[in-house]
Amino acid sequence: MAALEGKIAWVTGAGTGIGQAAAVALAREGATVVLTGRRKEPLDETVAAIAKAGGKAVAKPGDMMKAEMVNRVVADIDKEFGRLDILVNNAGLNITERNWKQLTPEGLDTVVQGNLSSAFYCAMAVLPIMRRQRDGVLIHTSSWAGRWVSPLSGSAYNAAKHGVVAMSHGINMEECVNGIRSCVVCPGEVATPILDKRPVPVSQEDRAKMVQSEDCGDLIRYIACLPPHVCINEVVISPTWNRGYVAALQQPHVGASKK
Ligand SMILES: NC(=O)c1ccc[n+]([C@@H]2O[C@H](COP(=O)([O-])OP(=O)(O)OC[C@H]3O[C@@H](n4cnc5c(N)ncnc54)[C@H](OP(=O)(O)O)[C@@H]3O)[C@@H](O)[C@H]2O)c1
Repeated sequence: MAALEGKIAWVTGAGTGIGQAAAVALAREGATVVLTGRRKEPLDETVAAIAKAGGKAVAKPGDMMKAEMVNRVVADIDKEFGRLDILVNNAGLNITERNWKQLTPEGLDTVVQGNLSSAFYCAMAVLPIMRRQRDGVLIHTSSWAGRWVSPLSGSAYNAAKHGVVAMSHGINMEECVNGIRSCVVCPGEVATPILDKRPVPVSQEDRAKMVQSEDCGDLIRYIACLPPHVCINEVVISPTWNRGYVAALQQPHVGASKK
């Protein structure tokens, strides 16, 4: 029997990139997967791909920046399946005008709501079901930027993703007594459509060296398959060819001996 047979997983941001790969990987492991994102078409395509491979998935579109919508999706899941075992709290975004000289209050709100408030809404909505079950795992996609600030991601994204890390650890602190586990995944650069928002375009050559969506999907599947008594609190995953490190290595070494 597949490890996640009979389990219900909810993946946000499931139409593309990391979320799509996680949905496919969880379905392959036997879970019934509920897919959410704002656009219906990519979700339908992912549902069709999972069904073609013999898996079970349904699309429930919605904007996770709206708490009411989040609660509606979770109420639907509870009504339809009577349980929820895995949340992949993955929906997120960034803006192109992210540097301090360009940042506007609207841009800030979009980034904070789209990465932090939305993640909180989803966690808050699923926890009552998981408490009832005395079992459940939450896997949140934060970022390398949630661990270390960098100008590349912009301050709003850095701050929001640091918040996601703090949120996940806080869930473990309070909910461990209810059999609930929370894991925050902090990826470095992953070759997904989110890179198209970068102020400096990313070449295909660089994208090919990055972590791929499927690598993250497989990591998320692994975390979801762990036995209930094991909690992985945090994972940092990055490309071996880490462009931040490579750039640092290319700097002349300050203080290097010049005989
Ligand atoms: N790629 C990287 O280098 C990288 C690195 C670190 C962390 N991350 C994080 O990884 C997560 C997944 O991103 P990705 O890299 O896979 O990029 P992506 O392909 O752009 O995926 C993001 C997904 O989230 C959905 N989404 C965005 N805002 C939403 C909202 N308000 N409500 C519902 N769905 C929403 C998008 O679909 P719709 O537009 O249809 O809603 C999209 O499918 C994000 O949290 C991102 O911040 C990415």
